[in-house]
Amino acid sequence: MERTFVMIKSDGVQRGLVGDILTRIEKKGYRLIKAELKQPDRNTVEAHYAEHKDRPYFQSLVSFILEGPVMAIVVEGENIIKVMRLMIGDKNPGKAIPGTIRGDYAKDTTRNLIHGADSIESAQREIAIWFPDEG
Ligand code: PPS
Repeated sequence: MERTFVMIKSDGVQRGLVGDILTRIEKKGYRLIKAELKQPDRNTVEAHYAEHKDRPYFQSLVSFILEGPVMAIVVEGENIIKVMRLMIGDKNPGKAIPGTIRGDYAKDTTRNLIHGADSIESAQREIAIWFPDEG
């Protein structure tokens, strides 16, 4: 069994898509371990996106995430890191396939609703950032 970190970003919460997205995850058969609405501080968001800190979009990405609460989620399942990324879809709305979360609902590369960790190492690092008590 594998665990991943998923975040429904501020736009997803504002647009009322939390229920839909959690339903997709549950219907797939994955087990929710944690799901908490959090208003993150700047340090948390900058730590989460640290590997992108030199990208031109970094500050606007961080400001966007800080616009409102996000849903921080830990979810468990077989091969979940890869499959969750498939369910999320491409960050580029022109490439996100219908049936994926972004393919169905996102039309902007920054306001793209949801994040999913891309590797076991990222998942562990991100879970430790968002749920420091998880050990
Ligand atoms: S890249 O192309 O290697 O820099 O991108 P990637 O590893 O896919 O992750 C980039 C994360 O930043 C978010 N983001 C953007 N990416 C590219 N361009 C723009 N303008 C942009 N704005 C935000 C993108 O969604 C990735 O974050 P997550 O949260 O993982 O989706």
